[in-house]
Amino acid sequence: MSKQCVMVVGIGLVLMTGVGMLVVRADESPAAPDVKKLADQVGKKDWAALSREGQTIAKKLDEQKLELLDVMYLFRFRKKGPGVSGIGVGETPGAIVPDGIEAKTLKLSKVVQPADLDKAADLKRMAEISAAVAAITIHMPNDNVKQVPGGIKKWQRISREMHDASKDLIKALDAKNLVQIKTAATKLQNSCTRCHR
Ligand code: HEC
Repeated sequence: MSKQCVMVVGIGLVLMTGVGMLVVRADESPAAPDVKKLADQVGKKDWAALSREGQTIAKKLDEQKLELLDVMYLFRFRKKGPGVSGIGVGETPGAIVPDGIEAKTLKLSKVVQPADLDKAADLKRMAEISAAVAAITIHMPNDNVKQVPGGIKKWQRISREMHDASKDLIKALDAKNLVQIKTAATKLQNSCTRCHR
């Protein structure tokens, strides 16, 4: 290769690296693929079957040195980086606001608008993710919880409630019932805050 050629290739590489850095995006947590796969099963499996699958995933995450936080991060806002992005709501970033599962659930627990029904499919997907996370979370009690008498039982109960509320939300969206959607979102939201307390 001639000297000029080497230089051109060199400059090209520098430019490409620069462009690569400019388009860097926040990634979803490494737990995302397993959670999404489990979410695909939510409509087909009852709690017993879903949480069995959740147990397998929890074990796998543990082997990969991943933690509950890596699962919970999926609920955060979808963002462009740096950092870890949540899954968000819907395919297109920013098309539904707020574009984060936690924030959208909170919003629906306060007010549900007829326009939300136009996005029912995306909101159902959000609830499926939530149900899948519940089926994994139940198998990942943290050390604090393990130390408190009855802590694990309570953890399991709230995880189950999180799943059931997510299923209620799916049903309410199918029924296109604004009141039921709000009730289910409130129940789901309560399961989050009760466990975080
Ligand atoms: C059974 C218990 C449990 C349930 C139910 C639960 N969480 Fe969590 N969540 C935790 C724990 C514990 C942490 C902190 C993990 C850590 O710090 O290691 C956490 C952390 C988080 C975080 C990351 C911390 C932050 O502030 O950004 C988010 C986001 C989150 N949860 C959202 C939710 C949402 C939304 C729901 C309900 C749809 C929910 N969680 C339900 C136990 C739970």
